[in-house]
Amino acid sequence: MRFSIAGSLLLLCTLAGVVRAGDPPEAAKSGKAPAKPTYYEHVAPIVQERCQVCHRKGAVGPFSMTTYKETAGWAAMIEEVVETRRMPPWHADPKVNSFKNSRRLSDLERDTILNWVKAGAPKGDKAKAPPKKTWPDPKAWRIGTPDAIVEMPESFTVPATGVVPYQYWEVKTDFESDKWIQGIEVQIGATQVVHHVLIFVHYPNRRRSPRVRGGLQGYFASALPGDSIELFPEGSGKWLPKGSSLVFQVHYTPDGTKRVDRSKIGLKFATTKVERRVQTVALNQTRFSIPAGEPNHVVRGTYVFKEDKMLLAMLPHMHLRGKGFRYLLRRPDGSSLALLSVPRYDFNWQNAYRLKNPVFVPKGSKVIGVATFDNSDQNPANPDPTKTVRFGEQTWDEMMIGYMNVVDPTESQRAAYAKQQQTQK
Ligand code: HEC
Repeated sequence: MRFSIAGSLLLLCTLAGVVRAGDPPEAAKSGKAPAKPTYYEHVAPIVQERCQVCHRKGAVGPFSMTTYKETAGWAAMIEEVVETRRMPPWHADPKVNSFKNSRRLSDLERDTILNWVKAGAPKGDKAKAPPKKTWPDPKAWRIGTPDAIVEMPESFTVPATGVVPYQYWEVKTDFESDKWIQGIEVQIGATQVVHHVLIFVHYPNRRRSPRVRGGLQGYFASALPGDSIELFPEGSGKWLPKGSSLVFQVHYTPDGTKRVDRSKIGLKFATTKVERRVQTVALNQTRFSIPAGEPNHVVRGTYVFKEDKMLLAMLPHMHLRGKGFRYLLRRPDGSSLALLSVPRYDFNWQNAYRLKNPVFVPKGSKVIGVATFDNSDQNPANPDPTKTVRFGEQTWDEMMIGYMNVVDPTESQRAAYAKQQQTQK
């Protein structure tokens, strides 16, 4: 079966509700939580929408929350992680911008869960349960049948226990011509233990190739928990020149059982003319030295836009000493705008923050990344607080990268920005 582009986009919109939690629906944002909520009536709808994407059989979460019994058994732990907002994993400050893939619980959702645990996790009336949520088959391609599939060159056996360093594989593509990519889906082999996959691109012409070194540039695609599809609007796409290689970076988190993974990426080629290029660019800084024991070391990086772009998404990347990351836009007219603030960065969660309203970035703008690092013994992830830390690719070295997904603006987006400038004068 082949999907049309419009069909695929429609499919994506339908999927958006399934695959990405997004902001809570309007009705769930306000109102007061019941003092004695029950599982079936009040808690199950929240768990379905906000937790099951990762907490169901075969998904990345360490246990399943698809029945009353499974969920109630974890009540005390759920209270702790919801109270501290450790779960669902979402690290952006809600005061800065809105994101369409936000996982943050509304106050109503949070209070409902907390009140339910306090009330002793009552079951309630099963007749009031929401219809059971169905999840897409992990083996089915949700972007439609791909035009090409690029697989890890070999299977990887994930041990039952222990910490597995990031694994890398490079695969050369064999397409006969340069390609414009309109749809991307990363399919994970062993969903229980693959925490995320990032895929980078090496162009055949090394001089024009992005500097992939440690992922400084060349980001191409990813599978993050509950977020593994990208479909670009008609007339836009990512460029993949003939002879390119794709580099898989996989983060495995063992779950007590030995498992075998072979993840892959499916690509849909553009069928119409692509006039607007989607790119992932990155601000970064490689020259820094974080003193031993320093709890709040600041490192800045800048990216200058040479053309007008629409900013679609951001993905900050640091390693184990990473503490906070902010993106700031400074336009050539001197005005500025906070784009993203991640006050409590967590290396384990490579979140992409997808803007609800893409931001017009006029030519000559700078995006400034401000990263903070905690190299003290107060940082539980710190492998060695007695060492000075510099740039490097190993997890015990540090990185400072702020990826940005951008696309050329449409004429109407340019016009809308020009008009907005006029009214501000
Ligand atoms: C995007 C995926 C994802 C979502 C959404 C998610 N979790 Fe988790 N959860 C995980 C993973 C993975 C772990 C394992 C620990 C880790 O990696 O932080 C985890 C661990 C937990 C734990 C155990 C914590 C511990 O210290 O062992 C609890 C309890 C939990 N989640 C509850 C929830 C609840 C409640 C929700 C919804 C309100 C939720 N999670 C949503 C992925 C998710």
